[in-house]
Amino acid sequence: MIAIACDHGGYELKLEILKYLDEKGLEYKDFGCDSTEAVDYPVYARKVTSAIKDGTCEKGILICGTGIGISIAANRVPGIRAALCTDCFCAEATRQHNDANILALGGRVVGPGLAVKIVDTFLNTPFSGAARHQNRINLIDG
Ligand code: RB5
Repeated sequence: MIAIACDHGGYELKLEILKYLDEKGLEYKDFGCDSTEAVDYPVYARKVTSAIKDGTCEKGILICGTGIGISIAANRVPGIRAALCTDCFCAEATRQHNDANILALGGRVVGPGLAVKIVDTFLNTPFSGAARHQNRINLIDG
């Protein structure tokens, strides 16, 4: 199950990502927001981090205008590894090396075509499982 949320700056891009998830038949929980009316991104970051922490969802997607604020907020939560990605190379690497559990995107930064490819890469790339990477991940929260 994928948790997804956005602020007003990410709303339009979220609609494109939801279309992709629907087409792929991927299950998700949409935690809002539901329009371009201004909201506070930390509130939406927290909804997704909570869904991951309580085990309801395995991965999350967070979108704000730049992807920066919402990823900073998400990364305050222990055990959350939110990666702001603007290309597929980083989306692949952050799954392989960091076992990132949240992908952050900037709705005012990446276009919908690239964003969908980044999401696809993120969701379909496994963690490498290499001991050196696991050790580094352990050090983050240690
Ligand atoms: C909202 O205008 C904007 O600040 C927000 O979406 C995000 O870019 C913050 O980092």
